[in-house]
Amino acid sequence: MVGVARPHRLGFGATLRRDLWWIETIVFMVGLIVLFGYLTVSAFLDEWAFHIGPYYSPVFEPGPFMLLEDKLEKPFGPWFLSPAFVILWGPAGFRLTCYYFRKAYYRALAFSPPACAVGDLWPQYRGESRFPLTLQNLHRFFMYVALVLVWFQWANAIRSFHHPDAGWGIGLGSVILVADSALLSLYLFSCHALRHFVGGGIDCFSCSRWHRLRKRGWDLVSFLNVRHPLWAWASLASVAAADIYIRLVANGTITDLNTWTGF
Ligand code: FES
Repeated sequence: MVGVARPHRLGFGATLRRDLWWIETIVFMVGLIVLFGYLTVSAFLDEWAFHIGPYYSPVFEPGPFMLLEDKLEKPFGPWFLSPAFVILWGPAGFRLTCYYFRKAYYRALAFSPPACAVGDLWPQYRGESRFPLTLQNLHRFFMYVALVLVWFQWANAIRSFHHPDAGWGIGLGSVILVADSALLSLYLFSCHALRHFVGGGIDCFSCSRWHRLRKRGWDLVSFLNVRHPLWAWASLASVAAADIYIRLVANGTITDLNTWTGF
């Protein structure tokens, strides 16, 4: 056969594509660097105020670890281990091994490849068959961890309606934390691994009540799964936004709109 184009053999960036394929790659790159970069820096900043009144930054959830941190001085190690790191390995591992985010950072940060049918920076790419990329298979286990942690996020959101001194009420921070928990839930419950966990490995969906129930769950996850990239980005942005908002309220830069006396 003559004239078959093989961009990956022609070098990095070689392609026959005529569309603006590089725009998506640049948007991915900026989004990943800004959002993951900010959240990483935030996790180190436990000396900054990350909670005020009924609001706790979702980066530092679950709250019980904060109480432990108050009681024992720096129980979790040297200065760089803020309490966020007690649980952050779970959500961080979940996102880093997410099928969708893999695609995003393989393209935007490793250029492997930068887009479909565009020359690869690493011509020897062998998929995820070698260490350390085989660790991506841990995703389903991080999903189990996320299935537990999401309820702490909701507990944080509900707790944001109860000021420790002024009782029940509502503030803009409460609304932001509820929206963040909802987006995180949509991201988790649209996970590809969860879809398999709920409905995979069944030959007959109608053979028993249990199988029919699993089919319903599988339908629901499949419905959400169609928008998984949207939930992935929206939930990542909402965690950062909630953290920024609570920090700005806590250090007095802005005032929270709420039914309490204000803080
Ligand atoms: S595939 Fe993205 S969270 Fe599981």
